[in-house]
Amino acid sequence: MTTKNLTPPTPGNFYVPGLASEYVAERYGIALADIAKLGSAENPHGASPKARAAVAEAMDRLHLYPSWTAEPLRQKIADTYQYQPEQVICGAGETEIISLIIRAFSGPGGRIQMPGPCFPIYHLFAEAEGRVPVLVHEATDRTSMALDVDAYTAAIDADTRIVFVTNPHSPSGTWLAEADVRRIIEAAPHALVVLDEAYVHYSNTAGYIHLGREYSHVAVLRTFSKAYGLAGLRVGFGVAARPIIDALLAVKPTWNMGQLQIAGGIAALDDDEHVDRTVATITDARQYVRGRFGELDRFRIVPESRSNFFLVEILDPDTNSTEVFNGLLERGVIVKDGAASWRGLDDRFLRCDVNLKERMDQLVDALADLD
Ligand SMILES: Cc1ncc(COP(=O)(O)O)c(C=O)c1O
Repeated sequence: MTTKNLTPPTPGNFYVPGLASEYVAERYGIALADIAKLGSAENPHGASPKARAAVAEAMDRLHLYPSWTAEPLRQKIADTYQYQPEQVICGAGETEIISLIIRAFSGPGGRIQMPGPCFPIYHLFAEAEGRVPVLVHEATDRTSMALDVDAYTAAIDADTRIVFVTNPHSPSGTWLAEADVRRIIEAAPHALVVLDEAYVHYSNTAGYIHLGREYSHVAVLRTFSKAYGLAGLRVGFGVAARPIIDALLAVKPTWNMGQLQIAGGIAALDDDEHVDRTVATITDARQYVRGRFGELDRFRIVPESRSNFFLVEILDPDTNSTEVFNGLLERGVIVKDGAASWRGLDDRFLRCDVNLKERMDQLVDALADLD
């Protein structure tokens, strides 16, 4: 028996999640309620109340196998966004759908293009499956952290199998105009273009979900983890032309969605009140924190975020993101360390969530308090 293919993954192969409040409370002796959890882009208002009620009701169906395509949720998504149910796939968060896309639309050695930095799951999963992630670092302008669409489209070549576009982008929160997204799509007619709209609600636009209807080589992904507050339920979906969805269904674990996920997702789509309240809170706090950063000399907010997080650039050459990250932790503020969390972000940056104004005050006060 050979074990040569069973080498355990090294830490660099894993996603680095935002730290849990409980861990920081215990390690630094801080009351749980005093922790500002700004590293996971979660919803400060919690889960959609309608989804919570629907999940509770769905407990009566726990003994029954769900539909393997999550058909009732598929139908609801189709009705909501003017697609046919056959043009929808549901997954345990977008993360699962991203993994299916990488499997179905690239073979071993296949080139998968993504901005550098980007959501790490794109390259981590690609590498785990023997695909080749191509991070296009030169397409990220270091001052605005926006995507340079010319550089990004120029990097697409005949061997590119999948092109990821994240809008709003993570970790910068920057926003692409529809014409720019179309330029990328039209530069890759031979590939699958994946438009990841995980944070679209915070852009205060309806996003570009219609592009999955218009182009036969585009998939648009959305999640219930952010504006609906259901990160712990694990529900996401993709819309695209039917042949794309069929290819994804063919590699999908059969019953990937449970009764609770299906029920929660359906109810969340009707909870405009929760989404509107969340978006209003984030939009307001985003404006507020921009103002408060004016008080700091050693840090700059990267200003153009249209998401529920933003980048902070460390202007002081005598410190770095890991030192600042640890200094903030001691003060009960959890953020993300750019150097540890993203390929190509380096030690000049941290990513911080937009949250309630009092949490923004905690962040700015803690940054001001660092030596
Ligand atoms: C850009 C982006 N896409 C997708 C996801 C995945 O979301 P989920 O798997 O919770 O739906 C995230 C989560 O942080 C993200 O930042």
